[in-house]
Amino acid sequence: MRFHASTISRVSHLRNKAPISCQASAKPQSNHKQGCNFGIAFDIDGVILRGRVPIGGSPQALRRLYGDSGELSVPYLFLTNGGGVPETKRAKELSELLEVNIMASQVVQGHSPFRNLLKKFENELIIATGKGDPALVMSEYGFKKVLSLEEFASYFENIDPVSQYKKWTSMPLSNKKAPSVPIYDVSSERVMAAFVVSDPVDWGRDIQVLCDVLRSGGLLGDANNYQPPLYFAADDLEYQAAFPYKRLGMGAFRIALESVFNRTSAKSLEYVTYGKPNPFVFKNAEIILSQLRSSSCQNPYENNGVLGSQPFKTLYMIGDNPSVDVKGAQQAGHPWFSILTRTGVFRGKDNHTEFPADLVVDSVEEAVDYILKRECVESGS
Ligand code: G3P
Ligand code: MG
Repeated sequence: MRFHASTISRVSHLRNKAPISCQASAKPQSNHKQGCNFGIAFDIDGVILRGRVPIGGSPQALRRLYGDSGELSVPYLFLTNGGGVPETKRAKELSELLEVNIMASQVVQGHSPFRNLLKKFENELIIATGKGDPALVMSEYGFKKVLSLEEFASYFENIDPVSQYKKWTSMPLSNKKAPSVPIYDVSSERVMAAFVVSDPVDWGRDIQVLCDVLRSGGLLGDANNYQPPLYFAADDLEYQAAFPYKRLGMGAFRIALESVFNRTSAKSLEYVTYGKPNPFVFKNAEIILSQLRSSSCQNPYENNGVLGSQPFKTLYMIGDNPSVDVKGAQQAGHPWFSILTRTGVFRGKDNHTEFPADLVVDSVEEAVDYILKRECVESGS
């Protein structure tokens, strides 16, 4: 049963057959004594941030998940389809923007599961594209032979016939890399896989070069029917950035690439997409939250000094995108509980019709307030 709750207690009562019994005025309790049989996954764009600006009272909301001495009292992580920088860097950026201490292990980005492909491509030549530093992301995961698509393209004169018109790509001369000798011999060494790590910046060039690479078996000019594997970190059609209206995301780029490729090739494009709403993302989040619980929260199921591995009672997904965040939590099933905020992609008054959340709130602050009351945890802030 799904609700767009205007009254929180009604939602709780209906869904779990137990009304919220803790009152806002209840005496603060120690989270450590309370234990952590719940956890929280926060979407970033449209829930925590819009562009680089915190929204929905996110800094205050996050502060409530820490104890008096700054230790984590509720296991939580960020589950975003965004990315483009290593998790360590993203954690540092988020810590600065949100004024709480965020660990790299609490940041799961769309491309984080690319690590699992290391066995397959560790020593193979791969290309990576997207905003930020996609090649650095892949190198930090352990891939040994990574070229950004930009660098790969730079080794082929005139590969992009309109590049001279792209004044917007100009950067101060001091930042411009001198034409370099290719690190890898791209005229003889095959690209074995292509990764769309984050939202592509130059769609035209990327579509052109990816078509070249994928149609030629990874070696430009080669007549080869084999298509190297293509991986997308996410498949969001739209997302909430700094602009007030929704912006096209990686899913839109995928559609553009796919339609051009399919019109210009004998075979249809083959690809794999990661990120929410894939159920494995939520499974993985559950594992990480469980590790965070073991390392940061006293486990109520502790037995003879051995931390129990009791499953979570509830895991909350707080998101702004019904077809990504809510659909993902729904597909993942128990113990996931979806909370939809009105601060991003979704702005409806009532619940979303196709992917109704378990709860709809105005902001992440309201969502955290609801969770802490429902879980009978009163924070000090
Ligand atoms: O590029 C970012 C976007 O696709 C979604 O990010 O945090 O809303 O999952 P998020
Ligand atoms: Mg979002």
